[in-house]
Amino acid sequence: MTRLEAARERILATYRDRTKRSRELFEQAGQVLEGGTTRTSVFFAPYPCYVSEGRGARVTDADGNVRVDFVNNFTSLMHGHAWPPIVAAVERQIRRGSAFAAPSELELELGRLIQERLPSMERLRFTSSGSEAVLFALRVARAFTGRRKIAKFEGGFHGSHELAQVSVNPPLDQAGPAETPASVPDSAGIPADWAEDVLIMPFNDLAAVERLVERHVGELAAVIVEPVMGSGGVVAARPEFLTGLRELTARRGILLILDEIISLRVALGGAQARYGVRPDLTTVGKIIAGGFPMAAFGGREDLMALMDPRGGKAAIPQSGTFNGAAVCCAAGIAGYGGITPEVQARIDALGEDLRARANVLFRRLGVPAQAIGVGSLFNLHFTAEPIESYRAVARGDRARGALLALALMNRGVFLASRGMGCISSVMTGAEIDAFLNALEGALVEDLELRGGT
Ligand SMILES: Cc1ncc(COP(=O)(O)O)c(C=O)c1O
Repeated sequence: MTRLEAARERILATYRDRTKRSRELFEQAGQVLEGGTTRTSVFFAPYPCYVSEGRGARVTDADGNVRVDFVNNFTSLMHGHAWPPIVAAVERQIRRGSAFAAPSELELELGRLIQERLPSMERLRFTSSGSEAVLFALRVARAFTGRRKIAKFEGGFHGSHELAQVSVNPPLDQAGPAETPASVPDSAGIPADWAEDVLIMPFNDLAAVERLVERHVGELAAVIVEPVMGSGGVVAARPEFLTGLRELTARRGILLILDEIISLRVALGGAQARYGVRPDLTTVGKIIAGGFPMAAFGGREDLMALMDPRGGKAAIPQSGTFNGAAVCCAAGIAGYGGITPEVQARIDALGEDLRARANVLFRRLGVPAQAIGVGSLFNLHFTAEPIESYRAVARGDRARGALLALALMNRGVFLASRGMGCISSVMTGAEIDAFLNALEGALVEDLELRGGT
């Protein structure tokens, strides 16, 4: 048995020992929910922890273990759990009804707040999920341009539908040349010719993107990009890459869609404010709804006019039972509205501190790993290679990263198994210290990684 295998056995044994109730529940769930879960992204081996309560920066699992939560429902909780202003707003609203087959003033108020912070969203619409928001943004782009193809970046995640589930996490041996990546469906059930409608481009490589766009210029409706590739490893676009993309797409009459479902948290006005790029369409989600399920898409008025039902039939009808649900909007007004410039500056600084200290620790221990990210978003990667693209992430030791996340769980830190985390507004330096202590313990004692081995 290698040292790594021995470490894995120990870490798994501790995890199993401390999470017996979660294991029982997961076994029962296997008889009800396919694979024991209802969300692939929260599954990790050997089984995920059941959370019974979240309060502030911490979650308590079904066995009573308390952990500092750096996942925050995959970055959607800006204020941790059960933040009093959100609880109060939701309680107030739920007594008056949670959702109606009619608009409420709350959707207007939240819409205005989003529009004020992201002026490129001249008109917007709410959806129940980020996947839907992207689906509609792409449909608007296809309808407006009359073109079929869209371009996305290798490693970019835009939700669960057919046009998005292409080359999200392609095996490197199937991914094709770095400068002309193959379109690899990430899911069964996506016909090959649908995947061919999705041109895959390399992130942060403007010269390669220019060549690809020129080759497909008459066919492309839109380029969709996450300014910070979130689920792909929290890889930030270089500023000149995004401004170059804006210039290229505008010059070639192709729409630019910024998917800010994760990157909205990097500035009050999202990454588009931070980078100074005005897209044609934007999708936002996660933090806009205070922990409730809602997202939005919007952009140029002439594009969004396709959704206007006033002249008879909308060119693009958009329904959705819970679109703009009052209770989600109430939570959003409290939660998204509760992000002040001071809050933003504080979480950004804590994120900066966490990354800097984690990187000092990796260097001191001689561990070939790094913490990358922007503002309050971070990701740990087991690679010494500079990370600017999906392929650099994929060349890292992702199995070791997942093992580290499990070791951190044993030490009271909840981090996504792909190493992704974020800071919430209820965290202070104490939570960052807890993270760093757990990280050092996990690396040195659990993974025995001192000295670059
Ligand atoms: C950038 C991005 N786009 C789209 C989505 C899909 O959102 P949802 O999970 O709400 O469908 C996600 C979800 O993580 C995301 O990170």
